[in-house]
Amino acid sequence: MEYFKFSLVLLSCWIKFADSVFSAEAPPAPALLPKEKLLVLTVATEKTDGFLRFMQSADYFNYTVKVLGMGEAWKGGDVGRSIGGGQKVRLLKEAMEALADQEDLVILTVDSFDLIFAGGPEEILRKFQQANHKVLFAAEGLIWPDKRLADKYPSVRSGKRFLNSGGIMGYAPYINRIVSQWNLHDNDDDQLFYTKIYLDPLQRQSFNMTLDHRCQIFQNLNGAVDEVLLKFGTGRVRVRNTMYDSLPVVVHGNGNTKMYLNYLGNYVPNAWNYEHGCSHCDHEVVDLSLLKEYPNVLIGVFIEQPTPFLPEFFQRLLTLDYPKDKLRLFVHNNVSVYHEKHIQRFWEDNKNVFGSFKVVGPEENLSQGEARNMGMDLCREDATCDYYFSIDSDVMLTNRQTVKLLIEQNRKIIGPLVTRHSKLWSNFWGALSLDGYYARSEDYVDIVQRKRVGVWNIPYMAHVYLVKGSVLRTELKERNYFVLEKLDPDMALCRNAREMGVFMYLTNRHEFGRLISTANYNISHYNNDLWQIFENPVDWKEKYIHQNYTRIFTENHMEEPCPDVFWFPVFTERACDELVEEMEHYGSWSGGRHEDKRIAGGYETVPTDDIHMKQIGFDKEWLHFIREFISPVTLKVFAGYYTKGYAVMNFVVKYTPDRQAYLRPHHDSSTFTINIALNNKDTDFQGGGCRFHRYNCSIESPRKGWSFMHPGRLTHLHEGLPTTNGTRYIAVSFIDP
Ligand SMILES: *[C@@H]1O[C@H](CO)[C@@H](O)[C@H](O)[C@H]1NC(C)=O
Ligand SMILES: *[C@@H]1O[C@H](CO)[C@@H](O)[C@H](O)[C@H]1NC(C)=O
Ligand SMILES: *[C@@H]1O[C@H](CO)[C@@H](O)[C@H](O)[C@H]1NC(C)=O
Ligand SMILES: *[C@@H]1O[C@H](CO)[C@@H](O)[C@H](O)[C@H]1NC(C)=O
Ligand SMILES: *[C@@H]1O[C@H](CO)[C@@H](O)[C@H](O)[C@H]1NC(C)=O
Ligand SMILES: *[C@@H]1O[C@H](CO)[C@@H](O)[C@H](O)[C@H]1NC(C)=O
Ligand SMILES: *[C@@H]1O[C@H](CO)[C@@H](O)[C@H](O)[C@H]1NC(C)=O
Ligand SMILES: *[C@@H]1O[C@H](CO)[C@@H](O)[C@H](O)[C@H]1NC(C)=O
Repeated sequence: MEYFKFSLVLLSCWIKFADSVFSAEAPPAPALLPKEKLLVLTVATEKTDGFLRFMQSADYFNYTVKVLGMGEAWKGGDVGRSIGGGQKVRLLKEAMEALADQEDLVILTVDSFDLIFAGGPEEILRKFQQANHKVLFAAEGLIWPDKRLADKYPSVRSGKRFLNSGGIMGYAPYINRIVSQWNLHDNDDDQLFYTKIYLDPLQRQSFNMTLDHRCQIFQNLNGAVDEVLLKFGTGRVRVRNTMYDSLPVVVHGNGNTKMYLNYLGNYVPNAWNYEHGCSHCDHEVVDLSLLKEYPNVLIGVFIEQPTPFLPEFFQRLLTLDYPKDKLRLFVHNNVSVYHEKHIQRFWEDNKNVFGSFKVVGPEENLSQGEARNMGMDLCREDATCDYYFSIDSDVMLTNRQTVKLLIEQNRKIIGPLVTRHSKLWSNFWGALSLDGYYARSEDYVDIVQRKRVGVWNIPYMAHVYLVKGSVLRTELKERNYFVLEKLDPDMALCRNAREMGVFMYLTNRHEFGRLISTANYNISHYNNDLWQIFENPVDWKEKYIHQNYTRIFTENHMEEPCPDVFWFPVFTERACDELVEEMEHYGSWSGGRHEDKRIAGGYETVPTDDIHMKQIGFDKEWLHFIREFISPVTLKVFAGYYTKGYAVMNFVVKYTPDRQAYLRPHHDSSTFTINIALNNKDTDFQGGGCRFHRYNCSIESPRKGWSFMHPGRLTHLHEGLPTTNGTRYIAVSFIDP
C-alpha cells in the first residue's frame, strides 16, 4: 500500500514534467546538478557515537563530507540545554572563504551528533533545485531561542514556520556571504544569528532565502515525533512525514528527541529491514581468535537481594567459555547470612581459579550505587582492565559464549538480551516516558521475542552489560555514574551515558539466558529453591528434574520390573538430598504409630515413620510437581486414564533398623501410587526394596531419584522390605484416592 502510493506520486511528477517539456510557454527545466556539485560541511570536535553514526549514513549514500573542527576544544556551550553553537558558524565562515567563488557548488551544512541521512545526494540536490531558492534552511514548529521574534516571521499557509539552523543548504557564494557576517563569540547562539538575517526582509530577499516548511529535505524531530513513521522499502528504510506526505532526506534529533533519533537510527537508512535483517551487525566486529591474548575482563557480581538458584548462578560464571586467568571477580553481597554460605563455598572452591577474587559483604553497608561504582572503579583505575562486565545475581546466563560474543560486537556499552521465561519482561527498555521511566517502543515485543534480531541502540538497560575499560577511562571517567538525583542506580547510569552521548546497545543476535524472578522468594526454609516451582519453573526443572526424565517420552526410557509397576527417573540427586535435608531439618518424624492426628479419622492402619509435605508447607508445590511431571507419565503408561493429579497423602518415609525397618503387606488408598527413592542402596543403607505379592515379584535395588508407579488397590498388594542397616528415605504420594 505504502509502495503503491509512492509510485502514484512519482507518476504524477512525471506527468507534470512531461507537461512542461511539451508546453511552449513553460521555461526550460534547469539541468539537474550532478552529485559532485554537493559538498557537506559539518562541525564535530570529537568522534562521538552520534558523529560516527552520521558518517556511516553519509558513507552509505556516498556523500562528500568535510568535517570542520575535529580535535578542537568545544567552546560552543551546552547546545540542547542552552543557547550556543557560535563556534560552528566561525568554523564555517573560515571554511567558506576558500569556496566562495564556486558558483554552482551547493553547500549542505548540518549538525552531525544527532543527525542521519535517509536519502542520497542526487535526491537532495533535486529537491533543493525544485525549491528554487539560493539558500534553504530547515524549519520547525517550535521557535528557538527567542520566542519574541515569532511575530516577525512571515506567515505560511501550511508547514513549519520557524528557522532551525541544524540544516542549511545553499549555493556556496550565498552561504559565504551569510556566514561572513559572523563577528560574535564561539558561545553565542548560531540559530539566533541566522534567524536575524532571515527575519530581515531585505537580506531574505537578497540572499533569496526560504525555509523547508514542508519537510521535503529536513525533518526536525522536535515537536514532530508524532508526524513521522518508519517506511520500510526494499533494501532501505526511510522516515515518512505523514503530515506533508514527504520523505525527508536529513533526519535531525534536535531538542529532547535524541532517543527517538536513536530508535529511528536502528533502521534508517539500512541498519535493519525485514528482508535482510541487521546489516550493520558485523560492522567493525573484533575477531577474538586473531588476538594474541584474550582481553582482561573484570566481572562485577551484584547480589542485592535474596536470589533463588545462586549456586547455579556461580556455576554458570565458572563455565563461561573464557580463559579464567583473564577474568577477575568482584562480588558485592548485600544479603547477610543467607547468601554468605553460598559465596563462601564458591570462593573456597575457586579462589585460585580466577585472576583475582574480591568480595564485599553486607558489613560494609554500601548502598547499591556505591557498590556498583566500586566495581566499575576497579576496572577504570586499572589500565590493564580491558572490559568491565557487570552482572546481577538474577541473570542466568545459559550461553557460555556470552562474554566473548559481547566483546566481539565491539561497542562501548553493550548488554545481552535476557528475558523472564515466557514473559515480555526483559533487561532493557525500547523507549522512555517523558518522566524517564518505561515506555514501550513499537519494536519492543519483536526484539524481546527475537522476531527482529540485531544490535539495538536503546535508552535503558540493566542487570547485565559490558563496558569498555578505555571508555571508563575517557568518556565516562568523571564520577560515580550510578548516583544521580533520586534515580535508582541503573537508571542513573543510563541517563548519564545518554547525556554523555555514549550509545548503549542491546544485542539479541543469540540466546543468552534469562532473568530469574526474585519476587516471593521465601528464605525461611532450609532449602529454599525447592519452593521455586511456581516462580522460576525453568530453573526449578533444571535443578531438580532428572536429566533423563524427558527421554521417558522420546525413547521410552523406563522399565517395568513387575507387572504394571513402572520405574522411571524423575528427580536429580540434588532434589533427593534437599528433600531429605528439609525433612531432617524439620525433624518431627511421626514414629509410625497407628494414632495419627494429621489424617482424617486420626487412625492409620499401616503407619510409617514419616513427615507429610503439608507439615513443611510444601503441599502446593508437591501437587504442582505431580501435575507437571507425574501426570504425563501416567498418561503414557495407563493410556486412557486421566489423572486428576490430586493427592492428600504426600509424605517422606524414613526406614531405619532401630525405628521402623519395613512395612507389612498392604494396599494403598489411591488409584495409583508413586514411590521415589531418595537415597542410594549400599552407600546409604542396606536392604530395602518392595515386593508385590500377587506377582511374587520384588525390586530389591531401588535407584536414587527413580520413581515407581503402580496401581494402589486390588492388584498390587505390596510390602516394604526391611532396611537392615543405615537409613532409607522414600517420597510417596497416593494419587487420586
Ligand atoms: C556508493 O559508491 C559505491 C562505490 O562506488 C557503490 O558501490 C554504491 O552503490 C554507492 N552507494 C549508493 C547508495 O549510491
Ligand atoms: C530566488 O531565485 C530563483 C532563481 O534561482 C528565482 O526564480 C526566484 O524568483 C528567486 N526568489 C526570490 C524570492 O527572489
Ligand atoms: C541492601 O543494602 C541497603 C543499604 O545498606 C539496605 O537498605 C537494604 O535493606 C539491603 N537489602 C537487603 C536485602 O539486605
Ligand atoms: C548503613 O548505612 C545507612 C545509610 O547509609 C545508615 O543509616 C546506617 O546507620 C548504616 N548502618 C551501619 C550498621 O553502619
Ligand atoms: C515463608 O515460609 C515460612 C515457613 O514455611 C512460613 O511460615 C511463612 O509464612 C512464609 N512466608 C511467606 C511470605 O510466604
Ligand atoms: C542419562 O542417561 C545416560 C545414557 O543412558 C547416562 O549415561 C547418564 O548417566 C544418565 N544420567 C543420569 C543423571 O543418570
Ligand atoms: C516366588 O519366587 C521365588 C524366586 O524368585 C521362588 O523361589 C518362589 O518359589 C516363588 N513363590 C511362589 C509362591 O511362586
Ligand atoms: C552398616 O553401615 C555402616 C556404615 O553406614 C558400616 O560401617 C557397617 O559395617 C554396616 N553394617 C553392616 C552389618 O553391614
